Amino acid sequence: MSVADLPKIELHLHHEGAAPPAFIRQLAFEKKIDLSRIFTDDGSYAFENFVHFLQVYEAATSVLQSPEDFARLTRAILEESARHGVVYTESFLSPDFCGGGDVAAWKEYLHAIREAADQAERDFGIILRGIVTPVRHFGPEKAKRAALCAAETAGDWIVGLGMGGDEGQGHQGDFAYAFDMAREAGLRLTTHAGEFGGPESVWEAIRDLNVERIGHGVRAIEDTKLVQELAARQITLECCPGSNVFLGLYPDLPSHPIARLRDAGVKVTVSTDDPPFFHNTMSREYDMLASAFGWDEDDFRALNQTALDAAFCDADTKARVKEKLESA
Ligand code: ADE
Ligand code: ZN
Repeated sequence: MSVADLPKIELHLHHEGAAPPAFIRQLAFEKKIDLSRIFTDDGSYAFENFVHFLQVYEAATSVLQSPEDFARLTRAILEESARHGVVYTESFLSPDFCGGGDVAAWKEYLHAIREAADQAERDFGIILRGIVTPVRHFGPEKAKRAALCAAETAGDWIVGLGMGGDEGQGHQGDFAYAFDMAREAGLRLTTHAGEFGGPESVWEAIRDLNVERIGHGVRAIEDTKLVQELAARQITLECCPGSNVFLGLYPDLPSHPIARLRDAGVKVTVSTDDPPFFHNTMSREYDMLASAFGWDEDDFRALNQTALDAAFCDADTKARVKEKLESA
């Protein structure tokens, strides 16, 4: 058996970022929106660098205009993830893209997404939970509105708050109010840090937002004290190696710090981030990691156990996921 055939947990997946280009093109066609500029001739997403990626991402997202569009997207994403053996996913959902930050509208989007996820669980056996996502470059005021949407819908399905967006804008601490609001509502916390920001951004995430997981976090490797701190606090990194290589953070997978972080005692997990943008899948991530670092089935089973421990869902859901991991 190849490691790519193992059942998998994915903790870091952007809902809109998982939209296949053909799906976005179809919606653009239906709504008569010209999006040709964001595609290459062969139909892939076209972007030059990280900031351009975020612009193309938002242009693609502009065709997702209703709860029904997000329901269709949810089914498409989960069908594809299940095809790659994913049994449990946490995806990032932005109220900014689902009703413009309005709580009532957000609830309608969420209702449609949950219905689609429930159906996909029955059809494909994959479980989805949501993490509400303020977009960093939209600023702290919009983040507060997103956090309010999160607080108003916190529960067994919306399980966390996790900031994405351009790490080059402002500081993690600028968003402390939003994170405090989410924490008080019982939500678990993660933020993108140490991707395009250096170790200082990871220190800020720990110190100023008090998160228990970090999106990426890989640039912590540049600061030995920080690596020790992550290990001591048992903070889990949502590593996305293929995404980092595609966006030019590292020249190739053998240069990626995931194995060194793991060997230093940091809790690491593996996710795809925005798979159609970076031409990766969870199966491919497993295959690539196995060939870059010699990881075997036991390593990947341990990786999934780390992910299960760090998942934001409740104990009943974890028990069901565990069964899925073990029965395969
Ligand atoms: N939004 C979608 N993908 C992202 C990434 N890799 N980093 C920050 N924000 C994102
Ligand atoms: Zn991400």
